[in-house]
Amino acid sequence: MQKYQIAVLPGDGIGPEVVQEGMKVLLKLQDLDTSFTFESTTFEWNSNYYIKHGRMMPNDGLEKLKTYDAVFFGALGDKRVEEHIPVWELIMPIRKQFQQYVNLRPIKQLNGITSPLQNEEPIDFYVFRENAEGEYSNSGGRIYDQTDQAMAIQNTIITKKGVERIATYAFDYARKNEISRVVSATKSNAIIHSMKLWDDVVNEVALDYDGIELDSIYVDALAAYFVNKPHTFEVLVASNLFGDILTDLGAALVGGLGLSPSANLNPERNFPSMFEPIHGSAPDIAGKKIANPIAQIWSAALMLEHFGRDDLAAKIMHAIEAVLVNGEVLTPDLGGNASTSEVGDAIIQELDKQL
Ligand code: NAI
Ligand code: MG
Repeated sequence: MQKYQIAVLPGDGIGPEVVQEGMKVLLKLQDLDTSFTFESTTFEWNSNYYIKHGRMMPNDGLEKLKTYDAVFFGALGDKRVEEHIPVWELIMPIRKQFQQYVNLRPIKQLNGITSPLQNEEPIDFYVFRENAEGEYSNSGGRIYDQTDQAMAIQNTIITKKGVERIATYAFDYARKNEISRVVSATKSNAIIHSMKLWDDVVNEVALDYDGIELDSIYVDALAAYFVNKPHTFEVLVASNLFGDILTDLGAALVGGLGLSPSANLNPERNFPSMFEPIHGSAPDIAGKKIANPIAQIWSAALMLEHFGRDDLAAKIMHAIEAVLVNGEVLTPDLGGNASTSEVGDAIIQELDKQL
């Protein structure tokens, strides 16, 4: 029997609401499938914790998380705490210290979901977003603050090694899945140092993959292609910022943030990987019990895939799609009037039917 240790970080706002549904689904799977079991520990490292202790996690927080097979994460963000604090004191340390340099984001139109686009062909691709460096760096600073000469410098960090490993991961995925084209998001015509190095390294990696075409496209044009011809994409590799923006756009094409999961992967498995929806803590709907839990539940499926249990992940996806196709139990973001836990329950009922 396979046994997994999962660290659960519900976070703030709707984070705990949707994580609860994700955990319900995992528990149900464990009941129904005896080949799999897990143990979870919940860490309440969130904005309340910060207000009480002046930090987002204990000193040895990362040491604690390191012993787990995976981190199952909700979302952080609370008006009482400055926005950059949870990002730079909890999310970024986990992603960077645990070398979760691949941020995998499926942009997939599930059965039962209509896109705001009048597209005939299904949208189904993977974005591999560089997750450890790039535009999201804390290198830089401000001088002459509060004066007319106020100046800020924010450095982008692009390294050969960093680009090589994310591009290699994307190309490996393409080869494994017999996909013949990898698109790289660039802007080397304007960002001539960092994006030029990005292009050079991606080009070099592509040489090792016979039969897979590399298509480097400027990110502004890509934004338009996401709308014009999203069905033409299969694998897209992008820097941290470009990937972040494009995937929110992608999410909007396939049902919205409430349906969009992500995996922060450490491919070498030296550290735990982390699974979370791409949405934030949604303070506008927090506490109303109407958050869509599907992105979080899909993240649980990505976690099972990471554990090598594609079979269990497929069961979750099948159950999610059955609920969407049925269309009776949907949260308001999808035009329904069901609550977060009613959607979780409906997915569990579908799992029951399957197993
Ligand atoms: P958001 O993703 O929290 O919300 C954007 C919009 O989408 C809101 O109208 C919200 O109600 C809706 N939405 C999001 N998730 C939903 C769900 N599951 N079901 C139904 N509707 C959903 O992004 P926003 O408003 O920009 O940020 C809110 C807070 O979240 C901020 O503090 C931000 O820093 C934080 N944040 C945290 C992230 C993380 O923890 N990884 C990622 C993105 C934002
Ligand atoms: Mg984002």
